Amino acid sequence: MKTEKLLLIPGPTMIPEKILNAMNTQAVGHRTEYFENIIKEVTIKLKKVFRTERDVYILTSSGSGAMEASVANFINEGDKTLVLVNGKFGERFASLNKVYGADLNEIIYPLGVPVNPDDVESFLEKNPETKAVFMQQNETSSTILNNVKAIAAVVKKYDALLIVDSVSGLGVTEMKMDEWGIDVIAAGSQKAFMLPPGLAFVAVSEKAEKKLSSCGNKRYYFCLKAAKKNLEKSTTPYTPATSLIRGLDTSLDMILEYGIEKNYEKQEKYTKMLREAFKTIGLSMVVENDQAASRAVTGVYVPEGVKWSEFERILSEKYNVLVAGGQDELKGKIFRVGTIGYLGDLDILSGIAAIEMALFESGYIFELGNGVSAAQKILIGRGKN
Ligand SMILES: Cc1ncc(COP(=O)(O)O)c(C=O)c1O
Repeated sequence: MKTEKLLLIPGPTMIPEKILNAMNTQAVGHRTEYFENIIKEVTIKLKKVFRTERDVYILTSSGSGAMEASVANFINEGDKTLVLVNGKFGERFASLNKVYGADLNEIIYPLGVPVNPDDVESFLEKNPETKAVFMQQNETSSTILNNVKAIAAVVKKYDALLIVDSVSGLGVTEMKMDEWGIDVIAAGSQKAFMLPPGLAFVAVSEKAEKKLSSCGNKRYYFCLKAAKKNLEKSTTPYTPATSLIRGLDTSLDMILEYGIEKNYEKQEKYTKMLREAFKTIGLSMVVENDQAASRAVTGVYVPEGVKWSEFERILSEKYNVLVAGGQDELKGKIFRVGTIGYLGDLDILSGIAAIEMALFESGYIFELGNGVSAAQKILIGRGKN
């Protein structure tokens, strides 16, 4: 019996067998030439995904470690910062800023609304002493895609660093670190990299690197000065997750071989399939504007009369499909369908079919199959534009 769950959650994602096999090997010494060569190779390939010539540090932690490193290494106590918040992960950046003693300012958006670059411009105009602007490229909790390129164009005019959490954005949506002028990017392994959780990445621009030495905040495990010193010798300050890094090597080969641009297109297509399917069966989207809709995860309101817990139970137990619920105050109100990781066209179609059945069986009555049909049309290029 096939009982493996189809993970349509925004991470951890499905893992290809090739990557599983790469990780399933005898332990290796990390202070060896063999492993240093792996770090060297992986770093070269990582830079291609980040679109940067600058350092990308590999941390053994979940994505939040990269977020913490992105605050701890660049912010001094009392520094004025701006955090752009349109969901839970923006709130996490705000909390980290508080922990590290920043003079925190926030622009908080209503549910489903992306960051407006004009708001950033007017804040920086009034507060040119701001040291850093923090944001998510892809806010996973509210399923929003923020326009990093437009915001970078604004921040570039000021002294502030632009620090972007792209944990669920990198590899999913276009990101050009050097060209757009982003100073720090945080990412993690369990999203587009198709790996288990446990690795985080931080890429640092030249402008940001200068702050590494002048930053007086206390930090130890996530000290990027130590990471930099070690990366120069193709190693890490502490024992890295060697198996995951071997998996990363294979993952990067797969990503680069498939093509980063091609993958962005695939993610767009899957997002369109889901949005069209759900709209066709009368559901409401958390993010109304197609341009601002995440390409990693699609947010949908749970229809009236349907209990999220019942819908989730049927979907998981009967059809072996996992989707994510809403977090905190959104629990029970929305559900989120992830489209990242090792997924193919038919996984998306069968996911939609399962969601339709589970919705129907939990009390939402509509013409079964209409959502699948709308998605099929997009897949064969006969859908709505
Ligand atoms: C946008 C974003 N930032 C940060 C994180 C935190 O990553 P982790 O849960 O790996 O610590 C997540 C996790 O889902 C995320 O989606």
